[in-house]
Amino acid sequence: MVKHFIDIADFSSVQLKQMVAEARAIKANPNSYKHVLKGKKIAMIFEKPSTRTRVSFEVGIVELGGTPIILNSKDMQIGHGETIADTAKVLSRFVDAIMIRANSHVMVLELAKHSTIPVINALTDRSHPCQIMADIQCFEEHRGNIKGKNIAWFGDGNNVTTSWIEAAPKFGFNLSIACPEALDPDSQALQTAIKAGGNISIMRDPKAAAKNADCVITDCWVSMGDKDAENRHNLLQPYQVDQNIMQLAQSDAIFMHCLPAHRNEEVVAQVIDGPQSVVFDEAENRLHAQKSILKYLFD
Ligand code: CP
Ligand code: NVA
Repeated sequence: MVKHFIDIADFSSVQLKQMVAEARAIKANPNSYKHVLKGKKIAMIFEKPSTRTRVSFEVGIVELGGTPIILNSKDMQIGHGETIADTAKVLSRFVDAIMIRANSHVMVLELAKHSTIPVINALTDRSHPCQIMADIQCFEEHRGNIKGKNIAWFGDGNNVTTSWIEAAPKFGFNLSIACPEALDPDSQALQTAIKAGGNISIMRDPKAAAKNADCVITDCWVSMGDKDAENRHNLLQPYQVDQNIMQLAQSDAIFMHCLPAHRNEEVVAQVIDGPQSVVFDEAENRLHAQKSILKYLFD
């Protein structure tokens, strides 16, 4: 059976915790992992822009002894009418795994279905699982075991939110999501996570979500591919993370953001550039978390 890394929900709690533990070990001792991808070629396909994902995967693959091959979908036949299935079958003959950042989650599922090699979801319109693995590692570095902790999300119920929702029952943290009704997160993912035991609440009042939070998180108001920027700005303004939100949270709460950030939109500069912000530790962990994911796929 080919292993893929498409969504947090596809894995057991034990598997995910093992991946985070391995990411910690890799971060502490990167030289011991230099041969994990020896001789392996990894295709990295981008349909959308990227800074962190592109560089952290490329550097991570090189540090694990593999060879990354960066592909912009516009330069590929996939962007000119070749089917996903044919692309999957052809790439499976040349490389050992495919990392893809795609517009459509359905397309990634199709790619995985027809690949005989592992496929990694590096962000789709539905989810961003690599980000959440790095985020959980980051939280635990700063605040210890995430189990039982209060994680509060502010703003758009987007792809990053969905991966947080899927992680809640797996890691056993409480998740409060403050968002406007029009931008509620994926209801199917939410129902599935709640059924699986996730303690997840959707709130309209950002103050209620902030109360006693151990971690305050937000993301951009307009994700890549979103078209209704003005409407989103109007809807999301009340969910901006500012000093008042941070004051309602625990005194040692941390602030996280997957980046790229828009200062004074989803978060005020004083918070993201302030002492509670761990956004650059969070970004760094993309490297370690993804090395751990790659190792898992080839183990
Ligand atoms: N957080 C994240 O995925 O960043 P990039 O879009 O820069 O890859
Ligand atoms: N929600 C954002 C995340 C960027 C890393 C987007 O999809 O654009």
